[in-house]
Amino acid sequence: MPIEVRSLTHIYHRGSTSEAVALKDVSFRIDNGEFVGLIGPTGSGKSTLIQHLNGLLKPTSGEVLVDGQNIWDKGMSLRKLRQRVGLVFQYAEQQVFEETVRQDIAFGPRNLGLSEREVMERVEEAARMVGLPADLLDRSPFELSGGQLRRVAIAGVAAMKPEVLILDEPAAGLDPRGRDGILSRIQEMHRGGMTVILVSHNMEDVARLCGRLLVLNKGELVADGTPREVFSRNEFVKKIGLRAPDVVNLMEKLRERGWNVRTDIVNVDEALKEILRELGKEAPVLS
Ligand SMILES: Nc1ncnc2c1ncn2[C@@H]1O[C@H](COP(=O)(O)OP(=O)(O)O)[C@@H](O)[C@H]1O
Ligand SMILES: [Mg+2]
Repeated sequence: MPIEVRSLTHIYHRGSTSEAVALKDVSFRIDNGEFVGLIGPTGSGKSTLIQHLNGLLKPTSGEVLVDGQNIWDKGMSLRKLRQRVGLVFQYAEQQVFEETVRQDIAFGPRNLGLSEREVMERVEEAARMVGLPADLLDRSPFELSGGQLRRVAIAGVAAMKPEVLILDEPAAGLDPRGRDGILSRIQEMHRGGMTVILVSHNMEDVARLCGRLLVLNKGELVADGTPREVFSRNEFVKKIGLRAPDVVNLMEKLRERGWNVRTDIVNVDEALKEILRELGKEAPVLS
C-alpha cells in the first residue's frame, strides 16, 4: 500500500496570534515494504507529519494519497484507513488503560468485527511478536515495567495487522536492553512484510535499521536518501542540529589525521572492516 504525500502544508491555529506553520510543502512517496526513518530536531514537524498519514490531522493544503486515492476524498473511510495504517504514539504506554494486558491489546482488533476467538488469537500473536511473555497477558498493565508497557501499546496496534506501522519514538526513555528489545521486534515485523516508519532521535538506531531516511527541519523536508547518503553530508547534518552516528565522526577524525579511510560509513561493522583494511589486517571473525 504505497503512501504519497504531495505538497503537504500544515498550519496550526491558522489566523490566530498563535499560528504555527508545522509543515511546509512536503512531498515524498513510500512504497510497500520500506523501512523509513523520520528524523529532525525537536519541533521540526515529525509528529505532525505522521498524524497526516492516517488521517488524524487534515492538511491545510496539499494531499495525502493511499493506494493513489486522496484519503480526504468523499467516500473514503478514515476508520478503514486507520486499520491499514497503524500509529503508535509517543509515550503510547500512557494510553494503556484496560484491566488486563489481554483486554488492552484486544481493544483495537475488537473494533474490527472479528469473532472473540479471532480477537484472542490476534492478541496472542501480537504479544509474541512484540516479545511479551504469555503469562503477562492476564496481569494488570499497571504491574508491568516501562519497557513491557511500551510493548503492550505496540502490540495493541500490531494486533490490527496494519500494512503500515508508524511509531513515534518507540524506544525513547527505555534502558538499552528495553530499547534493543523493542527495536529488534520492530525489525522482525518489517521482515515479516510490514512497511515501517520510525520516528527517532537516535541516529545510530536509524542508521542501523532503516533503508531510507526522511529529514525534516523547520517543517521542510530537507533530505531524503539512504542513511549513507544522509550522514555522509555531515556538515549539513550538524548545521540542522542533528548528530551523525559516532562512527561517522570517528572516520572523519581518522581521515583528518592522515588515515586513508572512507568517511561514508554509518555502522560499527563497516568501520571495523575499513580500519582493519587500512592497517593491512584481516577482519577477525566476530560472533
Ligand atoms: N497541537 C499543536 N498546536 C499548536 N502548535 C503545535 C501543535 N503541535 C505541534 N505544534 C507546533 O508545530 C511544530 C512541529 O511540532 P511537532 O510536529 O510536534 O514536531 P516534532 O515531532 O518534530 O518535535 C512545532 O513548532 C510545534 O510547536
Ligand atoms: Mg514529536
